[in-house]
Amino acid sequence: MSEDGRMVGGARRRDDRENIALRPKLLSDIVGQNVVRENLQILIDAAKNRSEPIDHVLFYGPPGLGKTSLAHVIANEMNVNIRITAGPSIERAGDLAAILTHLKQNDILFIDEVHRLGRAVEEVLYPAMEDFVLDIVIGKGPAAKNVRLNLPRFTVIGATTRLALLAAPLRDRFGAQFRLDFYDLQAMEHIIERAAGMLKIEIKPEGTTEIARRSRGTPRVALRLLRRVRDYAQVRAQGIITGPVSGEALALLNIDHLGLDDVDRRILALIIEKYGGGPVGLETIAAAMSEDASTIMDVCEPYLLQLGFLARTPRGRMATPSAYEHMGYTPPENNAGQPTLF
Ligand SMILES: Nc1ncnc2c1ncn2[C@@H]1O[C@H](COP(=O)(O)OP(=O)(O)OP(=O)(O)O)[C@@H](O)[C@H]1O
Ligand SMILES: [Mg+2]
Repeated sequence: MSEDGRMVGGARRRDDRENIALRPKLLSDIVGQNVVRENLQILIDAAKNRSEPIDHVLFYGPPGLGKTSLAHVIANEMNVNIRITAGPSIERAGDLAAILTHLKQNDILFIDEVHRLGRAVEEVLYPAMEDFVLDIVIGKGPAAKNVRLNLPRFTVIGATTRLALLAAPLRDRFGAQFRLDFYDLQAMEHIIERAAGMLKIEIKPEGTTEIARRSRGTPRVALRLLRRVRDYAQVRAQGIITGPVSGEALALLNIDHLGLDDVDRRILALIIEKYGGGPVGLETIAAAMSEDASTIMDVCEPYLLQLGFLARTPRGRMATPSAYEHMGYTPPENNAGQPTLF
């Protein structure tokens, strides 16, 4: 996922120092995502039992929730090598062929942004995933020959923030598919505590809660905010992160108590002030914000929907009464601001 430059965006920012030490190593280090964790445990135990590589796995969900981390965890648990690549960096079928022929038995091939693989590359991947063979053409013109190479049994782990953009045949080849969801408050607190402990940051429970509440259920955001609050505490509060210190630091970053930043508030204000609460089309919102529709859809909307501030209707997006209240407006009485259910 490319960066969006926002403090509370789940996407990676250039200044994110993703601390390798903080990356979960084993399944037991993964906080939250209980259903995914349990299913992965079964997948891993069963494969180990049969001394086979695990089935191909697909992780999907908003950025910063742990897709890459889980791929590494699987490799560690299976005790196998992981080779990391991404959809956009495999440009030609030959690039993928080169990667595949270098894999060893049981290796994991992690393909990030798997929805961005080109058609020709996908065509090579299908038989490789299904039958562990590589079909290549040697030579050109009438003398060209088709050659089929056997590949060792390996595992593809795919990750995507945009499941809808994944070609159906590719999606079908992943035997196990897991959707990652936003983390609840308790899990977020746990992740912050764990990171603070590892980074030797002094933090009070109220400080943890303040950061957790504003982290949009996204571990990457939590770790980023923790660093900023630590800086603030060092300069202004003898390095101790209390509840009020967290609150002040985050207010200074213009992040409100639910984790909304200026971009989110501008979207809500736009729908409420200019469009009477909606419905208003995504394209219209994007144009008014001078943003890309897909950025709004990927980065802002999921959390606003999760909070129940936005509703999607067939005629466009609507601001809900709770959005009005959060923004300090009185919700319209005639139900105009209510999402209509169809
Ligand atoms: N369940 C978890 N427990 C503890 N830390 C986590 C968890 N999930 C993610 N993290 C931390 O959050 C950060 C972001 O996770 P990760 O890079 O795996 O997200 P991602 O889903 O791959 O994001 P993207 O879509 O941008 O690739 C990592 O630095 C990791 O340390
Ligand atoms: Mg990732």
